[in-house]
Amino acid sequence: MTLFNTVYNDYEHQFAKSNPNYLKSMFGTTDVVPFWIADMDFKVTEPITNELQRLVDRGIYAYEFNPNEVFKAIADWNLKRHQLQLNSKSFVQVSGVLTGIALLIRELSNEGDGILVQTPVYHQFYKLINTANRKIVRNPLNIVDGKYQMDFEDLEQKLRAENVKILLLCNPHNPVGRVWNQKELEKLIQLAKAYNITIISDEIHSDIIYSNAKFNSIASLSDKHIAILGSPAKTFGMQSISNGYLYIPNQDVFSKVKTTIESMYLDHGNAFSTFATIAAYTKGEDWVNELVRYLEKSVKWIQNFILNEIPQVKIFVPDGTYQIWLDFSDLNLSEDDLKDLVFNKAQLALTPGAWFDDNHQNFMRINIASPLSKLQDAFTNLKTAINDNT
Ligand SMILES: Cc1ncc(COP(=O)(O)O)c(C=O)c1O
Repeated sequence: MTLFNTVYNDYEHQFAKSNPNYLKSMFGTTDVVPFWIADMDFKVTEPITNELQRLVDRGIYAYEFNPNEVFKAIADWNLKRHQLQLNSKSFVQVSGVLTGIALLIRELSNEGDGILVQTPVYHQFYKLINTANRKIVRNPLNIVDGKYQMDFEDLEQKLRAENVKILLLCNPHNPVGRVWNQKELEKLIQLAKAYNITIISDEIHSDIIYSNAKFNSIASLSDKHIAILGSPAKTFGMQSISNGYLYIPNQDVFSKVKTTIESMYLDHGNAFSTFATIAAYTKGEDWVNELVRYLEKSVKWIQNFILNEIPQVKIFVPDGTYQIWLDFSDLNLSEDDLKDLVFNKAQLALTPGAWFDDNHQNFMRINIASPLSKLQDAFTNLKTAINDNT
């Protein structure tokens, strides 16, 4: 019995994944098992719970946070896990990764400027760009031999023609699961220098990496033209109690961004996220290693099941992340019919592909940070729905 086999279904309705109003509005039904939002069905590691328990037992919530200790924990973690040397003086705390990206977009570009994204991509990126009145510039990813690749020719053409100031990189990439390799990142840095743009690298999924891949942070390649964002949220399943961080090695850019954040008093943590983050990064390594092993076994099980039982569905086997991107094109269904099959017949709340890019209506994303038995039931239901439909 591993740590990750226990099934919990008794969620509070305050959690987005099972909130009936949310489910009804997005899936047209509340009678679905949620695999859509990128959080976990697993209990956090014990040191996090113990630390939170200690705070609750004491019951004193004075101004006690100490971001320097948090930054040291983050820097030490990255050094050990990714051999990534980060300067603990180049961090700023933000309430979440999306907040950090929203701030950087405003600091490093002007209204009307182009922000480039590599599509299909995490849907909130579009909202961040639109709400800042910047222009979305799409650089579609290509599928080569069943794997997503960057299209550098198209990228360079867009940098030349579309007044791009920022490349919003997702590494590892949500939803396609690619962990970008060093060569790809080097090419991006080269282009960033040539066209004087900033790469904002969202590295929130960087700790969930499978055995055939190695995570490279863009920060390992350059001190200029980059900013990275990270958080313990995905790694440790702390989505609703964690903060994010911004890391900007260029001191001029760092000072400008830090001043803005401080002027709005946005750099404050709270005791819960602060102590939980330190506990996670200093005492959570074994738990994360076991988690990654568990997830990788689930990926393999899903891959085999699809191959043998529902070969009409194409799986993009991820290098990292607990998201799996599935292509249902061979079922030849309309967008509405595919949703009917998945949401109503298989009773699964998967994330529709169109969230990530308009022309991906035949795709869906499944979050696999769930006990394997729950995933096995889900895929069995999907198989039954597909067979009944043909
Ligand atoms: C790529 C990516 N960035 C950011 C987030 C959200 O980060 P936060 O909750 O810290 O704003 C997610 C959550 O799914 C994500 O997948």
